[in-house]
Amino acid sequence: MNDYTALLEAAREAKANAYAPYSGFHVGAALLAKGAVYTGCNVENASYGGCICAERTACVKAVSAGERDFLAIAISADTPLCTPCGICRQFLTEFGDMDVIMENEGGEPVVLRLSDLLPAAFSMDGR
Ligand code: THU
Repeated sequence: MNDYTALLEAAREAKANAYAPYSGFHVGAALLAKGAVYTGCNVENASYGGCICAERTACVKAVSAGERDFLAIAISADTPLCTPCGICRQFLTEFGDMDVIMENEGGEPVVLRLSDLLPAAFSMDGR
């Protein structure tokens, strides 16, 4: 199995920039592309519907830099084992399957597969 310790550490560091004055819940994510790591944090807004999760922040940064192939995403939050929300599962699935790394109580990586977190995901070509 892959050692995702460094990717999880990058997610932990990204959490420091979380802008979460409304929920007070800080999240960081680190998305591993073929050649680079893209980090993100949650960015909230007074218009609550405008809040963006850490996972999507990282994904949008990566795709806008020209990346589309992802191997894994690590997530660090204020609570252990924070899994991506439903919107983020769908959003990430757009770019294929990947490992999803959460952090347990001891700060250790716990690995699940995105396709296990979102089985039978929607796609327009029925894949
Ligand atoms: N949040 C994330 O950034 N990622 C998750 O996996 C769960 C939720 C954010 C959204 C919002 O800013 C705050 O956490 C509370 O839901």
